[in-house]
Amino acid sequence: MLRVVVLVSGGGTNLQALIDSIEKGEIQNAQIVGVISNNKNAFALERAKNHGIFSECVSAKDYENRGDFHMALLAAINNLKPDLIVLAGYLVVIPPEVIQEYSGRIINIHPSLIPSFCGTGYYGLKVHEEVLKRGVKVTGATVHFVDEGTDTGPIILQKAVEVKDRDDPKTLQRRVMEEAEWILLPKAVGLIAAKKG
Ligand code: GRF
Repeated sequence: MLRVVVLVSGGGTNLQALIDSIEKGEIQNAQIVGVISNNKNAFALERAKNHGIFSECVSAKDYENRGDFHMALLAAINNLKPDLIVLAGYLVVIPPEVIQEYSGRIINIHPSLIPSFCGTGYYGLKVHEEVLKRGVKVTGATVHFVDEGTDTGPIILQKAVEVKDRDDPKTLQRRVMEEAEWILLPKAVGLIAAKKG
Protein backbone atom coordinates (compact mmCIF):
# COMPACT_ATOMS: atom_id res chain seq x y z
CA MET A 1 0.00 0.00 0.00
CA LEU A 2 1.46 3.40 -1.02
CA ARG A 3 1.32 5.73 1.97
CA VAL A 4 0.53 9.25 0.66
CA VAL A 5 0.84 12.54 2.54
CA VAL A 6 -0.76 15.58 0.85
CA LEU A 7 0.46 19.14 1.53
CA VAL A 8 -2.12 21.86 0.95
CA SER A 9 -2.67 25.60 1.45
CA GLY A 10 -6.10 26.40 0.05
CA GLY A 11 -9.42 25.04 -1.20
CA GLY A 12 -8.19 21.49 -1.66
CA THR A 13 -9.99 20.61 -4.91
CA ASN A 14 -6.95 18.59 -6.03
CA LEU A 15 -6.93 16.80 -2.67
CA GLN A 16 -10.63 16.10 -3.16
CA ALA A 17 -9.99 14.66 -6.62
CA LEU A 18 -7.41 12.32 -5.07
CA ILE A 19 -9.73 11.31 -2.22
CA ASP A 20 -12.59 10.64 -4.64
CA SER A 21 -10.41 8.63 -7.02
CA ILE A 22 -9.19 6.39 -4.19
CA GLU A 23 -12.68 5.97 -2.73
CA LYS A 24 -14.06 5.06 -6.17
CA GLY A 25 -11.34 2.43 -6.53
CA GLU A 26 -9.84 4.11 -9.61
CA ILE A 27 -6.55 4.18 -7.72
CA GLN A 28 -5.60 0.84 -6.16
CA ASN A 29 -2.93 0.33 -3.56
CA ALA A 30 -2.75 3.90 -2.24
CA GLN A 31 -3.92 5.46 1.02
CA ILE A 32 -3.84 9.12 2.07
CA VAL A 33 -2.40 8.80 5.58
CA GLY A 34 -2.34 12.53 6.32
CA VAL A 35 -2.95 16.08 5.11
CA ILE A 36 -0.70 18.92 6.27
CA SER A 37 -1.43 22.60 5.66
CA ASN A 38 0.50 25.79 6.42
CA ASN A 39 -2.88 27.58 6.64
CA LYS A 40 -5.17 26.67 9.53
CA ASN A 41 -8.16 28.05 7.60
CA ALA A 42 -7.55 25.99 4.47
CA PHE A 43 -10.80 24.34 3.39
CA ALA A 44 -8.62 21.42 2.33
CA LEU A 45 -8.35 20.55 6.05
CA GLU A 46 -12.16 20.35 6.22
CA ARG A 47 -12.15 18.02 3.21
CA ALA A 48 -9.68 15.72 4.99
CA LYS A 49 -11.77 15.72 8.18
CA ASN A 50 -14.93 14.95 6.17
CA HIS A 51 -13.24 11.78 4.97
CA GLY A 52 -11.70 10.73 8.29
CA ILE A 53 -8.17 11.56 7.14
CA PHE A 54 -5.66 12.78 9.74
CA SER A 55 -4.88 16.46 9.22
CA GLU A 56 -2.81 19.11 10.90
CA CYS A 57 -1.55 22.63 10.42
CA VAL A 58 2.16 23.36 10.55
CA SER A 59 2.58 27.10 10.14
CA ALA A 60 5.78 29.18 10.10
CA LYS A 61 3.87 31.72 12.21
CA ASP A 62 4.09 29.30 15.16
CA TYR A 63 7.91 29.13 15.11
CA GLU A 64 10.59 31.61 16.08
CA ASN A 65 12.57 31.12 12.90
CA ARG A 66 12.46 29.45 9.50
CA GLY A 67 14.79 26.67 10.60
CA ASP A 68 12.49 25.62 13.44
CA PHE A 69 9.53 25.62 11.04
CA HIS A 70 11.45 23.46 8.55
CA MET A 71 12.34 20.93 11.25
CA ALA A 72 8.74 20.87 12.53
CA LEU A 73 7.40 20.26 9.00
CA LEU A 74 9.94 17.47 8.43
CA ALA A 75 9.00 15.89 11.77
CA ALA A 76 5.26 16.08 10.97
CA ILE A 77 5.89 14.41 7.60
CA ASN A 78 8.20 11.75 9.07
CA ASN A 79 5.62 10.88 11.74
CA LEU A 80 3.26 9.80 8.94
CA LYS A 81 5.91 7.59 7.29
CA PRO A 82 4.92 8.47 3.70
CA ASP A 83 6.10 6.68 0.58
CA LEU A 84 4.96 9.70 -1.47
CA ILE A 85 4.43 13.38 -0.71
CA VAL A 86 1.91 15.19 -2.95
CA LEU A 87 1.98 19.00 -3.16
CA ALA A 88 -1.58 20.01 -4.03
CA GLY A 89 -1.69 23.79 -4.06
CA TYR A 90 0.96 24.02 -1.32
CA LEU A 91 2.28 27.58 -1.45
CA VAL A 92 5.30 27.23 0.85
CA VAL A 93 8.80 26.58 -0.58
CA ILE A 94 9.64 23.00 0.37
CA PRO A 95 12.56 22.99 2.85
CA PRO A 96 15.80 21.49 1.51
CA GLU A 97 15.76 19.03 4.42
CA VAL A 98 12.48 17.59 3.11
CA ILE A 99 13.71 17.53 -0.51
CA GLN A 100 16.84 15.60 0.54
CA GLU A 101 15.02 13.13 2.80
CA TYR A 102 12.28 12.41 0.23
CA SER A 103 14.25 12.83 -2.98
CA GLY A 104 12.35 11.28 -5.89
CA ARG A 105 9.23 10.82 -3.72
CA ILE A 106 7.65 14.31 -3.93
CA ILE A 107 5.30 15.32 -6.76
CA ASN A 108 3.58 18.63 -7.53
CA ILE A 109 0.63 19.67 -9.70
CA HIS A 110 1.26 22.90 -11.60
CA PRO A 111 -1.48 24.68 -13.59
CA SER A 112 0.43 25.17 -16.86
CA LEU A 113 2.35 23.18 -19.46
CA ILE A 114 5.85 23.38 -17.93
CA PRO A 115 8.28 24.91 -19.00
CA SER A 116 5.81 27.64 -19.89
CA PHE A 117 4.37 29.92 -17.20
CA CYS A 118 6.16 28.39 -14.24
CA GLY A 119 8.90 29.20 -11.75
CA THR A 120 9.07 31.78 -8.98
CA GLY A 121 5.90 33.87 -8.71
CA TYR A 122 3.84 31.63 -11.00
CA TYR A 123 1.11 30.14 -8.84
CA GLY A 124 -2.70 30.18 -8.62
CA LEU A 125 -4.50 32.81 -10.70
CA LYS A 126 -1.24 34.54 -11.66
CA VAL A 127 -0.43 31.65 -14.01
CA HIS A 128 -3.71 32.08 -15.90
CA GLU A 129 -3.39 35.86 -16.00
CA GLU A 130 -0.02 35.48 -17.74
CA VAL A 131 -1.40 32.85 -20.13
CA LEU A 132 -4.17 35.26 -21.21
CA LYS A 133 -1.76 38.21 -21.37
CA ARG A 134 0.55 36.24 -23.71
CA GLY A 135 -2.36 35.14 -25.83
CA VAL A 136 -1.47 31.45 -26.08
CA LYS A 137 -4.27 29.26 -27.47
CA VAL A 138 -3.40 26.16 -25.48
CA THR A 139 -2.47 25.79 -21.83
CA GLY A 140 -2.92 22.89 -19.41
CA ALA A 141 -1.42 21.28 -16.32
CA THR A 142 1.69 19.32 -15.39
CA VAL A 143 2.50 16.79 -12.68
CA HIS A 144 6.24 16.68 -12.01
CA PHE A 145 8.73 15.41 -9.45
CA VAL A 146 9.93 18.10 -7.07
CA ASP A 147 13.63 18.90 -6.90
CA GLU A 148 15.58 21.81 -5.39
CA GLY A 149 14.30 24.20 -8.04
CA THR A 150 10.85 25.75 -8.58
CA ASP A 151 8.75 23.65 -11.01
CA THR A 152 12.00 22.22 -12.47
CA GLY A 153 11.84 18.52 -11.61
CA PRO A 154 11.26 15.69 -14.15
CA ILE A 155 7.82 15.81 -15.78
CA ILE A 156 5.50 12.86 -15.12
CA LEU A 157 2.25 13.75 -16.93
CA GLN A 158 0.80 16.69 -18.85
CA LYS A 159 -2.61 17.49 -20.33
CA ALA A 160 -3.51 20.32 -22.72
CA VAL A 161 -6.54 22.56 -22.29
CA GLU A 162 -7.95 24.99 -24.90
CA VAL A 163 -7.95 28.71 -24.06
CA LYS A 164 -11.31 30.16 -25.12
CA ASP A 165 -11.78 33.69 -26.55
CA ARG A 166 -13.94 34.94 -23.71
CA ASP A 167 -11.87 33.42 -20.92
CA ASP A 168 -10.89 35.44 -17.90
CA PRO A 169 -8.36 34.12 -15.35
CA LYS A 170 -11.06 32.51 -13.21
CA THR A 171 -12.89 30.73 -16.03
CA LEU A 172 -9.58 29.50 -17.39
CA GLN A 173 -8.38 28.31 -13.94
CA ARG A 174 -11.61 26.38 -13.50
CA ARG A 175 -11.31 24.66 -16.89
CA VAL A 176 -7.66 23.75 -16.28
CA MET A 177 -8.66 22.25 -12.92
CA GLU A 178 -11.64 20.32 -14.33
CA GLU A 179 -10.08 19.15 -17.58
CA ALA A 180 -6.50 18.63 -16.45
CA GLU A 181 -5.48 18.92 -12.80
CA TRP A 182 -8.20 16.77 -11.29
CA ILE A 183 -7.46 14.07 -13.88
CA LEU A 184 -3.67 14.18 -13.90
CA LEU A 185 -2.99 14.13 -10.17
CA PRO A 186 -4.96 10.96 -9.41
CA LYS A 187 -3.53 9.36 -12.55
CA ALA A 188 0.05 10.12 -11.45
CA VAL A 189 -0.54 8.77 -7.93
CA GLY A 190 -2.14 5.66 -9.46
CA LEU A 191 0.91 5.08 -11.67
CA ILE A 192 3.30 5.41 -8.72
CA ALA A 193 1.11 3.19 -6.53
CA ALA A 194 0.99 0.53 -9.24
CA LYS A 195 4.80 0.50 -9.38
CA LYS A 196 5.00 -0.03 -5.62
CA GLY A 197 3.38 -3.45 -6.05
C1 GRF B 1 -4.46 24.77 -8.23
O1 GRF B 1 -4.65 25.71 -9.26
C2 GRF B 1 -3.18 24.04 -8.47
O2 GRF B 1 -2.85 23.88 -9.82
C3 GRF B 1 -2.18 24.93 -7.87
O3 GRF B 1 -2.81 25.54 -6.76
C4 GRF B 1 -4.20 25.46 -6.91
C5 GRF B 1 -4.70 24.63 -5.76
O4 GRF B 1 -6.01 24.46 -5.81
N1 GRF B 1 -1.03 24.16 -7.49
P1 GRF B 1 -6.71 23.48 -4.73
O5 GRF B 1 -6.27 23.94 -3.35
O6 GRF B 1 -6.24 22.08 -5.03
O7 GRF B 1 -8.16 23.67 -4.99
